[in-house]
Amino acid sequence: MPSSKKVAKEILRLSKNTPYQEIVELGSGFGSLAIFLAINLPNKKIIAYELSFFPWLISKILQTIFRVKNLTIYKKNFLKQNLKNKLLICYLFPKGMQKLEDKLFDETINTQIISSTFAFKHIKFREKLKINDIYKTPIYLYKT
Ligand SMILES: C[S@@+](CC[C@H](N)C(=O)[O-])C[C@H]1O[C@@H](n2cnc3c(N)ncnc32)[C@H](O)[C@@H]1O
Repeated sequence: MPSSKKVAKEILRLSKNTPYQEIVELGSGFGSLAIFLAINLPNKKIIAYELSFFPWLISKILQTIFRVKNLTIYKKNFLKQNLKNKLLICYLFPKGMQKLEDKLFDETINTQIISSTFAFKHIKFREKLKINDIYKTPIYLYKT
């Protein structure tokens, strides 16, 4: 399920001040959030990882249609990638959050993370925002 427009706008606002040059979306689905961020943050490099073939394919087609140059979408497992020194953005599910949390601990990744909807179990968030949409979507901000 893609992020709502309101969530995407809030993630964009939060991403604008990051000191990192690269912004990584972990599980980019159909690519709407990654494309939105890339268009609105032309000076940043956006990297997106998606495991499922069909959403990945759609996202590549959308990227071509919108001619988004500062975005690279990989059909890869983000758990096997180098996630150090990049702003991480995710909207996963509890099991996915657990695996990401394990990776952050195992590889001692110190970075900023913006997580929509789901929180980590053991890492304490710095801030929790509530989006004024129908789900009252929570957004968790982390600095690990
Ligand atoms: C809820 S969707 C989020 C879509 C998009 N991020 C958005 O906000 O619109 C979560 C996506 O994460 C992908 N995913 C889950 N685990 C992954 C992994 N380890 N590597 C790459 N993609 C993964 C799933 O295939 C799914 O498309």
